[in-house]
Amino acid sequence: MIIAIDGPAAAGKGTLARRLAMHLNLAYLDTGLIYRAVAKRVLIAGADPEDAVAAEAEARAMQPVALQLEGLRTDEVAQAASVVSAVPGVRAALLEFQRDFAISPPDGKAGAVLDGRDIGTVVCPEATLKLFVTASTEVRARRRVKELQDRGLEAIYSRVLEDMRERDVRDSERAVSPLRPAEDARTLDTSDLDADQVFQAALNLIGSQNA
Ligand code: DC
Repeated sequence: MIIAIDGPAAAGKGTLARRLAMHLNLAYLDTGLIYRAVAKRVLIAGADPEDAVAAEAEARAMQPVALQLEGLRTDEVAQAASVVSAVPGVRAALLEFQRDFAISPPDGKAGAVLDGRDIGTVVCPEATLKLFVTASTEVRARRRVKELQDRGLEAIYSRVLEDMRERDVRDSERAVSPLRPAEDARTLDTSDLDADQVFQAALNLIGSQNA
């Protein structure tokens, strides 16, 4: 069983993916973290995320241990991840790892949940279930502010909103694997739902699909 969850930043994909994986005893892969790790490596090397050659070299050299790097969850790294992820060579270098994870999940699990931007469209077009999880930009920005503040980081709503809009545009308008729902994806708008309601809605979709 492969569950593909796509959608923009702070729509609730990660929380939902983690809960579904736990509930269904599946492996979980946060693919955004992989792009963040590439971006972080580019920044550590002192290179510019816009430098496609440097970004591709870092993606090719990356080992899974890079997912443990500190500071991957900052907005600076998120913006840089959005930039490096538009480089076709970066996406190509990371594709096989993601597909292998989905097809042969670790720890003997019977399946996997992957979340990202192109899981249903490119990484796992054969997924058992595809969800497109979204919410209004304002709601997502408010959630991100709270998340950053809960982690003791400074966050200003107007700045976070602007960054989010910029990232949405870049992720949706890039030439390779843009953020968009797969044709057979079910859309879940989480603007007015809490995490429990989103989880329940997803379980209902899984149930109706298996019925
Ligand atoms: O999900 P996230 O916010 O951690 O993702 C960070 C960036 O990585 C996002 O702005 C675009 C990129 N990304 C991508 O292009 N494809 C994915 N499957 C996951 C993330």
